Amino acid sequence: NTHILIMAGGVGSRFWPKSRNQFPKQFIDILGLGKSLLQLTYERFLKICPNEQIFILTNADYAGLVKEQLPSIMEQNILLEPSRNNTAPCIAYASYKIAKTNPQANIVVAPSDHLILKETEFLNKVNLALDYSAHNDALLTLGINPTRPDTGYGYIKYEKEQGARNNEQGVDKVTAFMEKPSLDKAKSYIKSGDYVWNAGIFIWSAKAIITAFEKYAPEIATLFEQGNRAYNTPEEANFILANYPNSPNISIDYAILEKADNVYTIPADIGWSDLGTWASLHSVAEKDENNNAISCAHLNIANTEECLIQLPAGKAAVIKGLSNYIVVDDGKVLLIYPKSDEQEIKQVAASMVLNF
Ligand code: GDD
Ligand code: MG
Repeated sequence: NTHILIMAGGVGSRFWPKSRNQFPKQFIDILGLGKSLLQLTYERFLKICPNEQIFILTNADYAGLVKEQLPSIMEQNILLEPSRNNTAPCIAYASYKIAKTNPQANIVVAPSDHLILKETEFLNKVNLALDYSAHNDALLTLGINPTRPDTGYGYIKYEKEQGARNNEQGVDKVTAFMEKPSLDKAKSYIKSGDYVWNAGIFIWSAKAIITAFEKYAPEIATLFEQGNRAYNTPEEANFILANYPNSPNISIDYAILEKADNVYTIPADIGWSDLGTWASLHSVAEKDENNNAISCAHLNIANTEECLIQLPAGKAAVIKGLSNYIVVDDGKVLLIYPKSDEQEIKQVAASMVLNF
């Protein structure tokens, strides 16, 4: 009864130049493991439910990439979006479609571009969440112990004490959900010790999320409910093409999680990293004695520390006296940027001619 929705429609522009519009980071072998982040995500979920119940939600532009990287995914399980409207509409589309034939479905929503090092722990927490959401009217999130006041995440305040008392399983009631707070707020949340990060992995029943859309995002609910007559028929593609772009452009975090009063969290120590930026990759990558993460066959390096260096196969480089820099050459573009300013890379990417 479990259905997995893997969201793979984002652009990942802080990982430019490797991640770009035509080839976003979920399709890249960022970790050098011989598999893309999407492939790793898919394989992880095969341990939770059969292939037939795994769906890929992505932009129509990436249909070819998904089929190439996941040849065993059923074609009808690749849901293609004709426009970029963020995560709320793609989740609504998939939820209404699944509920049409399976109103009792349980759903896991997951990003396609994260690193999870402790897989067994991850699978345990997701199974716990699935069990809880099957028996309770609950929207569940996995909570990550925060390590820095990062403004790119959702912050979850939860009833720690009460959770421990009322529920031996470790499912805690959320009292506030704050998506992408200001730096000042993020700092105060970290200081208070009352918050976890939202991992962006959600577990709920089809019924609970549809009820939440009706309550907190009625425009989205109305739109995708209208599709009910079309889902799983030859009319589906036409309905989506004509109507999907009219949906509000909003993420699930702003549309539902910030507003709903039946949100719960399971604090989870799963070796999670969002791999959102080059520095986050640096922090999890293997490093040399000077803390450089190097992916380059021919490198002559001296007096260099805390750098991430990625050069294409066959390229040689000599580097001396560099500290805390990102050096990435994807064959077309060479980026040399201080790690401390890496949030700007998103804007830098946008300002470059599209084809780069
Ligand atoms: N299908 C589809 N369509 N997928 C999308 C779209 C879309 O329009 N937009 C983004 N995605 C995918 C991305 O590829 C990614 O896998 C996932 O949805 C989340 O989108 P992001 O754009 O990466 O979100 P975020 O990182 O800013 O914030 C979310 O994740 C954080 C943890 O990494 C939020 O849920 C935060 O609360 C959370 O802390
Ligand atoms: Mg993200």
